[in-house]
Amino acid sequence: MILVRRMLQQALRVSGRSAFPLVKWMERWAEGASVGPEATERKAARTLEDMPGPSLVSFAWDLFAKRGLSRLHELQLEGVRRYGPVWKASFGPILTVHVAEPALIEQVLRQEGQHPMRSDLSSWKDYRKLRGHHYGLLTAEGEEWQAVRSLLGKHMLRPKAVEAYDKTLNSVVGDLVAKLRLSRRRRGLVTDVASEFYRFGLEGISSVLFESRIGCLDEVVPEETERFIQSINTMFVMTLLTMAMPSWLHQLFPKPWKVFCQCWDYMFSFAKGHIDQRMKAEAERVARGETVEGRYLTYFLSQTKLPMKTVYSNVTELLLAGVDTISSTLSWTLYELSRHPEVQASLRREVLDVMQGRREPEAADVARMPLLKATVREVLRLYPVIPANARVIPQRDIQVGDYLIPKNTLITLCHFATSRDPDVFSDPDEFQPHRWLRKEQAHHPYASLPFGVGKRSCIGRRIAELELYLALSRILMEFDVKPDPEGASVKPMTRTLLVPESMINLQFIER
Ligand code: HEM
Repeated sequence: MILVRRMLQQALRVSGRSAFPLVKWMERWAEGASVGPEATERKAARTLEDMPGPSLVSFAWDLFAKRGLSRLHELQLEGVRRYGPVWKASFGPILTVHVAEPALIEQVLRQEGQHPMRSDLSSWKDYRKLRGHHYGLLTAEGEEWQAVRSLLGKHMLRPKAVEAYDKTLNSVVGDLVAKLRLSRRRRGLVTDVASEFYRFGLEGISSVLFESRIGCLDEVVPEETERFIQSINTMFVMTLLTMAMPSWLHQLFPKPWKVFCQCWDYMFSFAKGHIDQRMKAEAERVARGETVEGRYLTYFLSQTKLPMKTVYSNVTELLLAGVDTISSTLSWTLYELSRHPEVQASLRREVLDVMQGRREPEAADVARMPLLKATVREVLRLYPVIPANARVIPQRDIQVGDYLIPKNTLITLCHFATSRDPDVFSDPDEFQPHRWLRKEQAHHPYASLPFGVGKRSCIGRRIAELELYLALSRILMEFDVKPDPEGASVKPMTRTLLVPESMINLQFIER
């Protein structure tokens, strides 16, 4: 019986999801998802009580005394080693079930319901409630989330709509290349490339949101921009700390929460300042009788019936989402390419072949660069920006493997562990982009999910990928990228997101 179920599971995975009810039922049966209360009782005999996991004290010790907050991604690997693919742990006051096997992650995500919820215990939501802000796409739930997701999806998920941003983004890439040239020291060394790429990320997302430039890549960076980037960094550090601290500790040590709120205050006011400025300029043009036609996201949002508070919060969250994600991915990609000159050479050949002497790749060009896509995919497998995602399913208890997980339990999806799982990826710690190009070497589709999957997956994926491809292809045409001759290897660390633990310095040698 189990064999039949496995074979069917495999066949359905290959054929994709179906709209036919019978096939849908077969899919659910094959996945072992609950098809009714009796089935649930029969299969999922095990409960949270039976689940292995560290004691409250030992996990708290790992987190706080052994700098575990910045090693949360490594604790995933340790968890799998000690307890297997499903275990429970108390993250401060929150009990969470960790799931660290591709098939089980798939099982959770296929039961996430109409309006998937990442977490209902977020300090991000607490802040918004406290200040009377609205929620943005990252934090909204239910119908409220669905309404904005549908609106933004039209401009952020449609390939044609996103391709139209290539000119805007290319002008930002041009400034990045100039800035890298300017930042080079002896032998072409640029220190701390991530900080250059933070500014590139912020300038890139701002150009898409406001259709205007905010000077992040100028020789002298505006102070408010530096402060915005710093606020994002500190906010991410404080996110984990504030969530891991029980509320009584907040009274004793108020600083983390206070700093967390100050960072958000600055981010909200930065976004509001830019939106208001853009709207004012537009109103003045209308008053002068000029026609105003924008292609930028803030314009589309402001043309809907959404309250301005919702526009502010969405733009704040989109700005935030476009900075560290782009910076980390670009930094790791160039770091790995500098250490694998043979891959860098093949990739450059691919780019030059497509470009045929032209210097500025467009969306249609990068679409014809499979190794470029495989390289970014491999980087996001090794260094998933979001090393652990989460889901809360409020509607019903769900079955995961042998366990019945009560509704409203926080389920942590251990993407870092699955994407480094030797049973799924051979030499899992090695950078091998070509693995994604070998048709015969199919991996479980839920083993590496850097952008998530389904209704609540990353809405910025297409913009992010375009931005990364345009920047990487251009950098490789302009420079040979080499490691810092005096540099050591750099490891990742968790700061809510996965970022480089120490500075990445690289040589950019003019070609
Ligand atoms: C390498 C770049 C990026 C990566 C790896 C990434 C990854 C992710 C992941 C894993 C999620 C959660 C998905 C889930 O819960 O299933 C997410 C959500 C989201 N991302 Fe990204 N992201 C990237 C870039 C961006 C950019 C550039 C933007 C903005 C333009 C963006 C905007 C968002 C938003 C708004 C959400 C929330 C979507 C929702 O809840 O409906 N992301 N991202």
